[in-house]
Amino acid sequence: MTKIREIYKCNICGNIVEILHAGVGQLVCCNEDMELMKEKTEDSSMEKHVPYIEKTENGILVKVGQNQDHPMVDEHFIEWIQIIADGTSYRKFLKPGDKPQAEFQIKSEKIEAREYCNVHGLWKS
Ligand SMILES: [Fe+2]
Repeated sequence: MTKIREIYKCNICGNIVEILHAGVGQLVCCNEDMELMKEKTEDSSMEKHVPYIEKTENGILVKVGQNQDHPMVDEHFIEWIQIIADGTSYRKFLKPGDKPQAEFQIKSEKIEAREYCNVHGLWKS
């Protein structure tokens, strides 16, 4: 049984999907079960992944790497940053060379952020 907003990955072809509507079936890709990506919340290595939320004049700024930006090179970068604010989901896709951050022009008190690193997986604030 899946849950809404879970992220699954195919370890063979690299497909990544988000659940928009939960169902009882097991997700399969390339003839293998897809892996549920665990939302990590604590950094143990030097590199920082837990999204950091800042309020700005325009809304919300989410950064990956508080004092030092997370790398944004071809082999290792933040693919997207997502926030869930009052039940609504917003996502910004990033590419190598971008800053590892995303600004969302919304006002909300209750915000959760997630980000996906192509090497280190899924992280949640
Ligand atoms: Fe990383």
